[in-house]
Amino acid sequence: MLQVTIDNHTIEVPEGTTILQAARMIGGSIVPPAMCYFSKLKGTGGKCRTCLVRVAKSSEKDARPMPKLVASCSTPVQHGMVVENTTSQEVLDTRKSIVEFLLINHPLDCPVCDQAGECDLQNLSYEHGLENTRYEEGRREFPQVDIGENIKLHMNRCILCYRCVYAVNQLTNGRVHGVLYRGDASEISTFIQNSIDNEFSGNVIDVCPVGALTDRTFRFRSRVWFTKPMDAHRDCKTCSGKAVVWMTGNDISRVTARKDQFNEVEEFICNECRFDHKNTTDWVIEGPRKIDKTSVISANHYEKIKQAAIINPVKKIIEKQAEK
Ligand code: SF4
Ligand code: FES
Repeated sequence: MLQVTIDNHTIEVPEGTTILQAARMIGGSIVPPAMCYFSKLKGTGGKCRTCLVRVAKSSEKDARPMPKLVASCSTPVQHGMVVENTTSQEVLDTRKSIVEFLLINHPLDCPVCDQAGECDLQNLSYEHGLENTRYEEGRREFPQVDIGENIKLHMNRCILCYRCVYAVNQLTNGRVHGVLYRGDASEISTFIQNSIDNEFSGNVIDVCPVGALTDRTFRFRSRVWFTKPMDAHRDCKTCSGKAVVWMTGNDISRVTARKDQFNEVEEFICNECRFDHKNTTDWVIEGPRKIDKTSVISANHYEKIKQAAIINPVKKIIEKQAEK
């Protein structure tokens, strides 16, 4: 086992663990954000740079710091390593710059974007973004593309994290789409249209960290925070059938895979479960989905209301006088 200290928390991890994975084992606010790494998809990471951290001590044998900030999602832990994330001003300043960079072309159309309320970039911008843009050049613009009847590709919002490319490569048969061109001309190829035949293609919606790939069966139907996410399952021959059904009143507005605390899919679901079963009778509803309490989705509904402690002012004064 290798010992690593991240923001003053020390943990032992198996060899081969990355700094990001070690930070996730510790948990809490020290976990670096990740826009491209997706633990369920092989080869992801190293694209977005939001997870940069400072290695203040390389290892027990080599106490020197690493000369530059490193991507925590692709840097393996070494024994005795000391890492700074939220405790390093350099990291926080760089993260601000990365967010500014990601927002160069990303439109701030959250008020009309279906991903609003569950968008990693929206959260990141809220925490690290600038109020104004310094960018004066023209932004990239693409026509919106319907990828079959269920998925909408809105390239203007894409941050080129490659997650959808890995998802389709690894969940479906054969390579059907990818990133065309390089630099600021890069774009997700519309050959993604060829992937619609595959029964797992809908998972690109769940892995996309922004609103570039959205569910056409749910588009503009509701804001996510007005819906109630419920764990549900059904007998499915293709996937585990374990999903989250998002309810508006007694109707199912959309179906997604279940996601963990890092906003990653627990188990990928098939298109049939996702798109074809919107009746409550199709599902066994297990109960409310536990959503991170800091998420806007958990606001206003179905969390058990905690009664505020009732303070009896007269009793308090008497107690205080007694203490004196
Ligand atoms: S469409 Fe979404 S998942 Fe695919 S590369 Fe762009 S941001 Fe990433
Ligand atoms: S999550 Fe590490 S570079 Fe994107």
